[in-house]
Amino acid sequence: MKKSILPLIVMALTALFAGATMVYAAQADKKIVSMKLHEKEGLQCEDCHGEKNPTKADQAKIYASCLNCHANSDGTYRGELDDKGNGIEKEYSESRKTKMAAMHDSHVGKLRCTLCHTSHKAPDNKNIYCNYCHQFDVKIK
Ligand code: HEC
Ligand code: HEC
Ligand code: HEC
Ligand code: HEC
Repeated sequence: MKKSILPLIVMALTALFAGATMVYAAQADKKIVSMKLHEKEGLQCEDCHGEKNPTKADQAKIYASCLNCHANSDGTYRGELDDKGNGIEKEYSESRKTKMAAMHDSHVGKLRCTLCHTSHKAPDNKNIYCNYCHQFDVKIK
């Protein structure tokens, strides 16, 4: 009897340790490589994912978290606003022309933040959402 139970205990313990190591590994390789100010501010997994040990990106929860910290008073983020409450336009070069655009308040309306801003992967500055149609020369942090 004793002999047959021991391997089971060993297996259970191994599984426990493996589980713990996996959580640790997940946290270790989930370094924030984009939006460096977040790393400096010491944001925790829960701040963005809404849960302590996230295993996937729940985009709806993440979007709600971004807005939780960054929203203008109307529940959208439109950057700095002018006195009429519109997003302020900045100059961007677009294939040798210059366009005034407000990245956060454009003709396409509300967009999920993570269409442009990433956290654990480096941002893709060429393929930001707008550049499916435009060729804005932008840099995302
Ligand atoms: C817990 C609050 C919090 C959450 C959640 C949060 N942020 Fe931030 N974010 C900050 C703070 C604080 C800064 C520092 C600058 C500031 O004061 O605005 C910052 C800075 C930034 C910057 C500028 C980064 C830089 O390096 O210059 C961007 C872009 C940004 N956040 C986007 C996002 C997006 C997108 C999300 C959702 C994925 C998000 N934030 C979630 C608090 C938060
Ligand atoms: C269409 C792409 C795009 C989307 C979607 C987007 N951003 Fe940005 N964001 C940018 C770019 C590009 C910058 C860099 C500043 C610039 O050139 O205007 C930026 C800069 C920022 C900054 C730094 C301060 C500022 O306003 O310039 C914050 C904070 C920020 N974004 C938060 C958000 C949040 C929160 C969301 C979602 C509600 C979001 N962004 C959605 C493109 C985007
Ligand atoms: C600043 C907000 C933010 C913080 C803090 C954050 N995440 Fe994320 N996470 C994201 C976003 C946004 C995505 C979507 C993919 C991307 O942008 O890199 C994501 C994706 C993921 C994914 C899905 C797999 C992948 O790589 O796309 C996992 C797993 C994950 N995060 C785990 C974590 C863990 C663990 C922590 C804490 C150590 C953490 N995240 C902290 C915003 C955050
Ligand atoms: C599905 C295609 C598409 C997407 C995506 C798109 N645009 Fe446009 N945009 C257009 C078209 C078409 C025009 C009109 C022709 C032109 O001026 O290039 C336009 C015009 C503009 C103009 C000029 C408007 C004016 O009044 O002069 C700005 C600024 C602009 N877009 C900003 C943006 C920004 C910022 C994004 C991303 C948040 C974006 N667009 C995403 C198709 C798109």
